[in-house]
Amino acid sequence: MRTLFIAILMCCVSAAVSATEDGGPQMLRANVDLGNRESLQRGARLFVNYCVSCHSANFMRYNRVAADLGIPEDVVKANMMFTTDKIGEPMRIAMKPADAENWFGVVPPDLSVVARSRGPDWLFSFLNGFYADPAKPTGVNNVYFPNTAMPHVLWEMQGMNRAVFETETHNGTEVAMFRHFEQDRPGTLDEASYMTATRDLVNFLTYVGEPAKLVRYALGVKVLVFLFILWIVAYALKREYWKDVH
Ligand code: HEC
Repeated sequence: MRTLFIAILMCCVSAAVSATEDGGPQMLRANVDLGNRESLQRGARLFVNYCVSCHSANFMRYNRVAADLGIPEDVVKANMMFTTDKIGEPMRIAMKPADAENWFGVVPPDLSVVARSRGPDWLFSFLNGFYADPAKPTGVNNVYFPNTAMPHVLWEMQGMNRAVFETETHNGTEVAMFRHFEQDRPGTLDEASYMTATRDLVNFLTYVGEPAKLVRYALGVKVLVFLFILWIVAYALKREYWKDVH
């Protein structure tokens, strides 16, 4: 038992060390909260306004979003549906894949399960990782996804950052290591509000990746309440039965 425990501990330690040693920039923590319905609603609004022009979420239907997040269907219809007028439709994009390939060189991927493939922390870091790079066709680059074809679609909110790199020598080769950002142009939001906005967006994408989680969480609370009540009854019964034995 002890050896097993030590083996597990060693695995965790080596994983933690390799995560910091690979030289990549430090990942930011998304700290998403699926229990926060207002954050999910704000995230959904950002998603339909800023992302569905290029990305779809084909596994998610508008009426499911309405029901799960408690947004009235007519509000969804009036404010959130730009690519269809049927509430039972999936979140498709209007753009043709061939056009996308022409414009960006790659087709923007479907984002239904991206929170599961990349993880919420990566998504959050990616949305906070854009910086100005005049050498790129989009004018931007990203420290977490170098040379990405995605433009910084939220730049009006965030403003534009400049990335500060320092050259380090590793085994005789010079590598540019990312240090930090400096803001070149302010956006409509300050840093903290931009982080909240992108956290909401990642929260929504996490929900889209596994909508059943919301149901599971709600069910979990009910089960705990039920078990608690059952415990009181069982305890009272036990006292009743053992009363005469002592
Ligand atoms: C103007 C079109 C456009 C818009 C709008 C857009 N994206 Fe993208 N996005 C792209 C392209 C193109 C790629 C592919 C990048 C590549 O592979 O280099 C991409 C890639 C991504 C990826 C990486 C997926 C992966 O696993 O490789 C994520 C995550 C993403 N976008 C999220 C978003 C979010 C969230 C929004 C809304 C805030 C958004 N995008 C808006 C064009 C767009």
